[in-house]
Amino acid sequence: MFPQWRSKYLSATVAVLGGAYLGFLSLAGGAGRAEEKAGDSGGYKPVAPLEVVMKHADDIFGGLDKKLEKKQFLAIKKEAQFLAELSNLAAQYKTEEDFKKFANTGKDLFLQLSQASGKKDAGEVKILMDKIDKNCEACHDKYKEKEEKK
Ligand code: HEC
Repeated sequence: MFPQWRSKYLSATVAVLGGAYLGFLSLAGGAGRAEEKAGDSGGYKPVAPLEVVMKHADDIFGGLDKKLEKKQFLAIKKEAQFLAELSNLAAQYKTEEDFKKFANTGKDLFLQLSQASGKKDAGEVKILMDKIDKNCEACHDKYKEKEEKK
């Protein structure tokens, strides 16, 4: 027959092994999360020149005035979301804190623009477009080489 102490001993062993296994699982999970985090912060490498990203951002941003005149708020909302993502991307191009700050300010302003446009708030859309324009220029003043005078 199976003595009482022996079955207690067995279940204790199972509990210890089970605990160790769960501990291992959570460690493995933790390592996975750490890897994910490293990928988020340092792993992204742009492959296109910044001027190409800028050219397209400029074309889209330049088209917003006309869309506002025609009250195409849904279109502005989507363009603003895309420009927020391009700003997010632009931040990856340089390591300087200040450069990232301008890019992140642009991202935040474009997100606000998409919200204002979602509310069909033409006045707020206009104000935000002006703020964005100033932010583009502020970054260019510091980081974009001036074209040679002709
Ligand atoms: C975080 C800094 C930063 C922000 C914000 C920024 N730019 Fe730029 N932009 C640059 C830099 C740096 C260059 C020069 C890139 C190069 O020539 O390598 C540039 C270049 C450009 C060019 C010239 C592209 C070409 O074909 O040579 C245009 C147009 C432009 N930006 C438009 C914009 C517009 C519009 C915005 C705002 C919606 C904006 N940029 C916001 C940094 C910025």
